[in-house]
Amino acid sequence: MKSFQLFTAAFISATVLFSSCGGSEEKKEEKKSEEVTETPANQTETHGTEIKPGEVTVTTPLNAQWVSSGKSIYELKCQSCHKLTDERLVGPGWKGVTQRREPHWIMNMITNVDMMLETDPEAQKLLEQCLVRMPNQNITKDDSRQVLEFMRSNDGVK
Ligand code: HEC
Repeated sequence: MKSFQLFTAAFISATVLFSSCGGSEEKKEEKKSEEVTETPANQTETHGTEIKPGEVTVTTPLNAQWVSSGKSIYELKCQSCHKLTDERLVGPGWKGVTQRREPHWIMNMITNVDMMLETDPEAQKLLEQCLVRMPNQNITKDDSRQVLEFMRSNDGVK
């Protein structure tokens, strides 16, 4: 009988502990979302608005400054998953990507990868091959244009 009482007591205190723990976590989470709304825009995820066909113009000769800043972005945020050859690493190699894809498609893939993986059949095919979801890399539209210029240069455009 004594052990039964002990057990009940333990059970009750465990329940109390558990629920109070849950309660405080809820509070923490509330606080978190408040904090998020207060953080400056540059700390939240960047999703661009969808870029429409024809919205991006590509010209020759290449903009050398964009090529070079596009290259820096590549080295910092893309290189771990993308090679500049046609060989796949985590994601497809970039060689020939500007011939396979429209400029606006590439920029949407860079700025709105979640939207692309949900709605675009070509992006979904890549996901089936690579089995890894490309993460949002918080790239702005302007930066994605510079990466595109770097890709064009990698594909031999002068
Ligand atoms: C964690 C790995 C990872 C990183 C980092 C990454 N990607 Fe990707 N990327 C992928 C995968 C995987 C795919 C194929 C689609 C999928 O499975 O989500 C892909 C697909 C692409 C495609 C389409 C390629 C094609 O052949 O059509 C482009 C363009 C692209 N990524 C650009 C970028 C850019 C630009 C960056 C850096 C700013 C970047 N990716 C960073 C993994 C990554």
